[in-house]
Amino acid sequence: MGNLFTMVTVRADYEQGALVILDQTQLPNQEVYLALKTAEEIWEAIYSLKVRGAPAIGVAAAYGISVCMQKVVVAGFEEFYRKFVKIKAYLASSRPTAVNLFMALDRMEVRLLRHQKEDVKAWKQALREEAEAIRAEDAGACRRIGEWGLSLLKPGMGLLTHCNAGHLAVSEYGTALAPIYLGQERGYGFSVFADETRPLLQGARLTAFELQKAGVDVTLICDNMASSVMKQGRVQAVLVGCDRVAANGDTANKIGTSGVAVLAKYYGIPFYVLGPISTIDLGCPAGEQIQIEERAHEEVTEKWYTRRMAPERVNVYNPAFDVTSADLITAIITEKGIAYPPFEETLREWKMKDILT
Ligand code: MRU
Repeated sequence: MGNLFTMVTVRADYEQGALVILDQTQLPNQEVYLALKTAEEIWEAIYSLKVRGAPAIGVAAAYGISVCMQKVVVAGFEEFYRKFVKIKAYLASSRPTAVNLFMALDRMEVRLLRHQKEDVKAWKQALREEAEAIRAEDAGACRRIGEWGLSLLKPGMGLLTHCNAGHLAVSEYGTALAPIYLGQERGYGFSVFADETRPLLQGARLTAFELQKAGVDVTLICDNMASSVMKQGRVQAVLVGCDRVAANGDTANKIGTSGVAVLAKYYGIPFYVLGPISTIDLGCPAGEQIQIEERAHEEVTEKWYTRRMAPERVNVYNPAFDVTSADLITAIITEKGIAYPPFEETLREWKMKDILT
């Protein structure tokens, strides 16, 4: 496998007429790229987490709808738009929690509508450009998030992260892992604990993989070991990503995140949420309004095991995300800066500025 940052998680290949993704379900064992040519294939790849991580899902949906629309042959804008809306609604139904999916698709629609008086060539070109802009903005945001995040950390610190909010989940440096990569470049010598992140093991399969590949000192722990390493004084800050930040700062992220936040509060360890402005959802006043995805029971009882590890017919509850209350969060870090509690005003100001520019 090549260098970490040369692995491209999501891209559009218009010659092939495909959305090309790195299949994250095959990592860390194999680096396999898939060329997805239909809306159904793209939907399935998002649903089954072949492409995953809030910003990467948004970029995949944007490139995906652009790729699908390049193949459309129609008489006029009305028909083109009708087809666009159908694919948009379909892709939006793939996963409910990460707001980036909906934001990216909405952006694509707004851009298309701006060009409705032009011709089919212009509509298709506009979609290509907007998808590219979404990806490029994501990459730029990651670096700035990394700089802000690093300003809160000191050389030699022990850090803990949950799930995967790195290169594979976003573009380039990722969000929660961005300060770690920048610190690595600048000789900060962090030691990082990666929670394995049951049931889908994004921490073990993806975070441990990418940090190790980048030469970062990473130690994999099971989720139930976080308290132990915190108690031993080996963690000075927790860095996590986010799938949706409500207007009051309540944050949805991978299941288990809220438990880590409770532990961090107990041990007096700062708990930082890092994500792009596109993850802030002012339409969601508080965490209770965030729809939490529930996934197949087999992910808990069978997946990754060579044989079933729970009794047949046992009840299973498998929420993919949880909400960390704003009062457990020390700071929310975006490309615009660092927000401290109470979050509402700063998040609103950032988001409004972002919408207006
Ligand atoms: O179900 P996943 O793997 O898509 O969940 C991902 C997470 O929860 C990440 O922590 C979050 O999307 C932030 S990614 C920058």
